[in-house]
Amino acid sequence: MAGLIPQTFIDDLLSRADIIEVINARVPLKRAGHEYKACCPFHDEKTPSFTVSPSKQFYHCFGCGAHGTALGFLMEYDRLSFPEAIEELAASMGLEVPREAGAPQGPDHRPLYDMLEQAAKFYRRQLGQHPQAARAIDYLKGRGLSGEVAAEYRIGFAPPGWDNLLRQFGTSARDIDRLRDTGLISEPDGKRYDRLRDRIIFPIRDTRGRVVGFGGRVLTADDGPKYLNSPETPVFHKGRELYGLYEARQALQDLDRLLVVEGYMDVVALAQHGIRNAVATLGTATTADHLDRVYRVTPEVVFCFDGDRAGRDAAWKAFNTALPFMRDGRQARFLFLPDGEDPDSLVRKEGAEAFTQRLTQALPLSQFLIDKLAEQADMNTLDGRARLAELAKPLIAKLPGGTFKTMVEQHLNDVVGLAATPAPEPGPRRSRPKATALGTIPPVRRAVVLLLQRPDVAAQADLPSDWNTLDMPGIPLLGDLLETLRQRPDISPAALIDRWPDPETRRHLARLAALEIQTLDDAAEQFRGVLVELSRQARNAQRRKLQQVYRPSAMTDEEKQRLRELYGAGKASQSEPGRGGD
Ligand code: UTP
Ligand code: MN
Repeated sequence: MAGLIPQTFIDDLLSRADIIEVINARVPLKRAGHEYKACCPFHDEKTPSFTVSPSKQFYHCFGCGAHGTALGFLMEYDRLSFPEAIEELAASMGLEVPREAGAPQGPDHRPLYDMLEQAAKFYRRQLGQHPQAARAIDYLKGRGLSGEVAAEYRIGFAPPGWDNLLRQFGTSARDIDRLRDTGLISEPDGKRYDRLRDRIIFPIRDTRGRVVGFGGRVLTADDGPKYLNSPETPVFHKGRELYGLYEARQALQDLDRLLVVEGYMDVVALAQHGIRNAVATLGTATTADHLDRVYRVTPEVVFCFDGDRAGRDAAWKAFNTALPFMRDGRQARFLFLPDGEDPDSLVRKEGAEAFTQRLTQALPLSQFLIDKLAEQADMNTLDGRARLAELAKPLIAKLPGGTFKTMVEQHLNDVVGLAATPAPEPGPRRSRPKATALGTIPPVRRAVVLLLQRPDVAAQADLPSDWNTLDMPGIPLLGDLLETLRQRPDISPAALIDRWPDPETRRHLARLAALEIQTLDDAAEQFRGVLVELSRQARNAQRRKLQQVYRPSAMTDEEKQRLRELYGAGKASQSEPGRGGD
């Protein structure tokens, strides 16, 4: 498993990354003076208030307030985690991300992947060799599958018997552990046996093509549960994997659309008919993790459901899960199949062309929303229509801002026939804020602003060292920033900010970094001024504490000495005893 990414690599990468390139590759930017502009990708607008500064390496939207670094943009826009965004950025610069060996890292799952791969090969071999395999082959043929498609999906056969796999691979205690950890064997009440027996085997591959689990189908009805799947294991999570996604990406250069269906057999039957872009959830509802995965590789998802009650309910769930993913340029549509049919039965009955034709009639998300809500409100009365608009509000609120959201609102208004409600978001565009005077910013924050906008202030020789003992919000952050800049004076502000794992802090820092300041000419003095003031306050606080807690008679010599030092260093007022000059 991958180790930690070295912090020095992250710092260098972020210092070298160019925010203009990163954003321009996703949202075309136009030059405007020293900056670049575009319509904000995070909210709906017609005139550009999204600004990117090449000198500061920050983006900022004056309309919705979104702001951040190149890395922050990648995380927001491509919905990436921190390490994923680092990978993405490195790849765009042609760099390989190094990993620290020996650093704290996840457990090494390679032996589990190995075991799963061995098992997939084993099941596949059995389909070709086992004396009972003819039944399996007949079954697959009976369902219209060719050898090519079976091979492409690595479909196999688990022969009858309790311990075929166990005998083959479970020869050492270590291997038995691996069989157990991959869910290939089960051990109820101490007895150990193969989980999948006398079943057709569908290997489930992750996006990299590694086998992570299996689904197994009985050959004859009433031979136990129709499908048995691998349990959750360290490498297999039903709520994340999609059957057929790896194969679809292998088969197609461009995935302009993905179909989400319910069953293994639906995926392979569609592939058999040349429809190679189907994926199946693994007996679970569609999760946000699933959608996260599919929308990274395709802009459009068509959900296929049974036309029955259960199918409609499943569609409603998928709809709700999909709402937050509906950024501009993405689509979700809903296809309801005739009662009693699934994609497998339909495509075999009516062929690929008719099936593809159905896809064109899938309901767009906005229409599905209205149809669904119309079931709960009487569209023939004004009250009913108002109620529909009410019901729609919380759902529409889940849509990310953008043209799509506006379109849905418009569509809804058209249908409801009410006067268009004024769009609550994004509110009147704020004009570009005026430059701020440093003196108006509270001290700790002022120091942070200075460190971000004029990092050289950290290198001053005569800064006080005892300023950071105050128990005050922002002090630890300021201390961390200062310490980092002293260790790495060349780090860029963007890289500095992106060292913070917490997105809230990163946003806060990015905002301060982008703040327009009237003048930074006296940055060094300003910075020192804040630290000197903090240091004075810190000493006063300590003095008060010592005086409150201890009467002089109860003080240790050490405490008395400390108190003397504090008075010696601080500005003692007339009324205070033991005063010393400063
Ligand atoms: P279906 O019963 O619709 O499966 O369940 P199917 O693919 O149409 O099966 P065939 O056509 O009879 O072979 C859809 C999915 O739900 C999960 C499986 O992932 C299956 O593909 N499922 C179903 C189970 O996990 N266990 C079951 O017993 C049944
Ligand atoms: Mn079926």
